[in-house]
Amino acid sequence: MKTALVTGASSGIGFEICKKLLGLDYKVYGVSRNKPDLDLEFFQVDVTKTKELEDLKKNIKEPLDLLINCAGVGHFGQHEDLKPKDLEKMISTNLTAPIITTNIFLKDLKKQKGTVINITSITGKENAKFGAAYGATKAGLESFGKSLFDEVRKSGVRVVNIAPDITDTRFFDELMFRPEDSPEAKIEPQSVANGVEFILNQPEGTVITELTIRPQKILINKKPKL
Ligand SMILES: NC(=O)c1ccc[n+]([C@@H]2O[C@H](COP(=O)([O-])OP(=O)(O)OC[C@H]3O[C@@H](n4cnc5c(N)ncnc54)[C@H](OP(=O)(O)O)[C@@H]3O)[C@@H](O)[C@H]2O)c1
Repeated sequence: MKTALVTGASSGIGFEICKKLLGLDYKVYGVSRNKPDLDLEFFQVDVTKTKELEDLKKNIKEPLDLLINCAGVGHFGQHEDLKPKDLEKMISTNLTAPIITTNIFLKDLKKQKGTVINITSITGKENAKFGAAYGATKAGLESFGKSLFDEVRKSGVRVVNIAPDITDTRFFDELMFRPEDSPEAKIEPQSVANGVEFILNQPEGTVITELTIRPQKILINKKPKL
């Protein structure tokens, strides 16, 4: 049985990826602060705390075949209006944590000729007005994934960036905008999980290094101010 660790397991994209991997008969270690309602081995970890990530490694005995760096948060708005504490937490969650998690598990992933999948974002590829800092975390993660693949490809490790566009999750709950309620305006988190399956199904020697998933249209609504 193959083993996978998924950060951000409690909701949205990470939750759907965990469901998919369980269906593919993986042993799944789910990591988040809240427990997902899924039959997996759960570790309550705040990925911004390096000590908790190091302890996680001690608690996982077998080498991983798959690491999915999915945990993330978004703070959007005029840059000067964002709170420094929120920015610090966002950079730590979206960029520092996946780099450190990968560092901690990479030796094992090399032994297994495993796969690292980073959930980046379309905002890392484009200018992100009102999301300059969020976009920077995702562009940084994308750059990390690309360079890491160059570094580890000889060892048989695959490194993949999946860049979703607007996805229908609770990500938008605290934001001042959300996609219109139309199937053409957003993708479903299941589509990202299907992307993971597609990546894993490639024959040995073939690596999908990047996958971008977009809705047909851009239809975004500003939320009314409370
Ligand atoms: N939704 C979109 O439109 C979209 C588009 C492109 C990329 N993405 C990216 O996709 C990823 C998943 O987002 P989502 O849309 O599925 O949003 P979501 O439903 O809000 O899920 C975010 C996940 O990250 C976890 N998380 C956040 N901070 C954490 C921390 N400090 N420690 C551990 N876990 C933490 C949350 O778990 P707990 O709160 O339980 O800890 C939750 O499981 C993120 O990296 C996001 O940037 C989303």
